[in-house]
Amino acid sequence: KGKRDLAGKRVLISAGGTREHLDPVRFIGNPSTGKMGLALAQAALHRGAGVTLVRAPAAWDVPLGVQAISVTSAKEMEQEMRSHFSNADVIIMSAAVADVKPAEYSAEKLPKRLLPTNLPLEPVPDIVAELATLKKPHQKLIGFAAQTGDIVTPALEKLHKKKLDAIVANPIDKPDSGFGSDNNQAIFLDKQGHKVEIEPCSKLQMAHYLFDFIISY
Ligand code: C5P
Repeated sequence: KGKRDLAGKRVLISAGGTREHLDPVRFIGNPSTGKMGLALAQAALHRGAGVTLVRAPAAWDVPLGVQAISVTSAKEMEQEMRSHFSNADVIIMSAAVADVKPAEYSAEKLPKRLLPTNLPLEPVPDIVAELATLKKPHQKLIGFAAQTGDIVTPALEKLHKKKLDAIVANPIDKPDSGFGSDNNQAIFLDKQGHKVEIEPCSKLQMAHYLFDFIISY
């Protein structure tokens, strides 16, 4: 594909899984590897966009030409997404953000005997829902919903509750798709009611389908 249909646009993408540390060596995390966010960055770059990637710890190298910012926790991701938000035309929250964090952080490694058996937790900010309140009419804000079982109902709920323009309903209980895979499958849903089902394909191909979807409406 030689399309340069994102020329002159800035795309802000979050990728990977946040980590909520209890101490320097222990954290609450999730299986996200950030490959979908990486594929989105590659596709956006290929189509001529300027790309900013806010990435939680991930094992891959950032593509040349992408402005990358490394973060660890949801709180750090929130700050970076907020500070780059107003410059962006398309914002895609593909990161798997923790829902909770340990209520206390110890800067020193906790000895095993001091580890609580009942860890007090606190909610973390819902980044994409916050960004929605800052959104200007020309901006498009897209979220992901990683789900098992019925993927459409919870994704539609999140689309409306978080006031997003579109959401990617992403099954994580299918073979060779979702977390860690190079391939993926999904149903794209937007606030106007459009629905596009994407058969299993590479994450890069899916990234292109998502930009096609965002641009057409
Ligand atoms: O509610 P749930 O976590 O399933 O929603 C997923 C979407 O919300 C994703 O786009 C994710 O990046 C975003 N999210 C967020 N901040 C959180 C939790 C999720 O921006 N604390």
